[in-house]
Amino acid sequence: MISQGEVLPDFERKVAEFCGAKYCLAVNSGTSALHIATKSLGLNNNDYGWTSAMSFVASANVIRYTGASVDFLDISPKTFNITPEILSAKLEKAASQKRLPRVIIPVHFAGQSCEMSEIAALAARYDIAIIEDACQAMGGSFNGNRVGDCRFSNAVCFSLHPVKSITSGEGGLVLTNDRDLFEKMALLRTHGVARGANVMQDVGPWHTEMQTDGYNYRITEFQCALGRSQLKRLEEFVAKRQRLATHYRHRLENIPQIRLQQVDRPEDHAWHMMLVLFDFEAIGKSKKEVHADFRERGVNLNMHYYPIHLNPFYQDLYGFSEGDFPEAEKYWRSAFTFPLHVELEETDVDYICDCVEEIVT
Ligand SMILES: Cc1ncc(COP(=O)(O)O)c(C=O)c1O
Repeated sequence: MISQGEVLPDFERKVAEFCGAKYCLAVNSGTSALHIATKSLGLNNNDYGWTSAMSFVASANVIRYTGASVDFLDISPKTFNITPEILSAKLEKAASQKRLPRVIIPVHFAGQSCEMSEIAALAARYDIAIIEDACQAMGGSFNGNRVGDCRFSNAVCFSLHPVKSITSGEGGLVLTNDRDLFEKMALLRTHGVARGANVMQDVGPWHTEMQTDGYNYRITEFQCALGRSQLKRLEEFVAKRQRLATHYRHRLENIPQIRLQQVDRPEDHAWHMMLVLFDFEAIGKSKKEVHADFRERGVNLNMHYYPIHLNPFYQDLYGFSEGDFPEAEKYWRSAFTFPLHVELEETDVDYICDCVEEIVT
């Protein structure tokens, strides 16, 4: 049984237990997890789904896969997450236009949870479902409670891609406390085909039947075995990331030409990414020049992400253009993602911070 064997349910049980949720399904990617969660809400062509303008494109794509249309929420210039204030204003406007979304997908950017209690209260007022895109936040918390416990949402999704908190090579997880949603998502994971006790017709023990549209989003046993062993080290990995991030912040927080993500509870952050914003005007160099300066010193800076609405595909499909979500765009113009992973040491962080001092001053 190298697929659909015994490791799969054991891995799922252990993740559910770790997060404090009732149900968990493991699938072949974070995108698949988000897709089956969104699809199981029953969205159709007349519906809207909203997500953050500052995320990986998958957060928006999964809404489109259901036939629904996508719209975006701008981000806080400090935390880079969507906020209750931004959401509240957009919901009020959408209610007056009778264009309220069926689902909102908050993204816990870089591993820091959105303000979920207030977002959930707003969504409840308008009867809107919430799927948390926690692909970057496994091992993190919100107000001391684990991300993944689903207390503020219909479902929470994680990615097990190699750069994430833990990995199964490729893979994803979706958690929920809703039995009905769990059963729908389980069907969507395997072509919409039911077997065993779940079939509608009593034909015989061999009988399987397709009850709904579905996909092959299954994950293999060897991926689950890797995921299960990685899960044992999740807290150790996040603690290491926290240590490195604290060291970065200590070294960088007083340099006037740069700015860091606002973090109110560092102990809750999963520290998927270390974000550094540059005042290129004050430095007197362009973003490209600063990137090249770090490259010359052996430091490869990344950028996450091109605001989703500015991607040519999304501009063409919905007519978005520059200026639509100004804070996401400002972030994109000034930010770089610094190296942060469990193989890094504090001496590496020191070297990178020395480079920052050299380059910006
Ligand atoms: C915020 C966010 N959403 C969704 C995904 C998609 O996850 P995966 O690559 O496992 O499909 C990722 C990972 O790249 C992500 O960072």
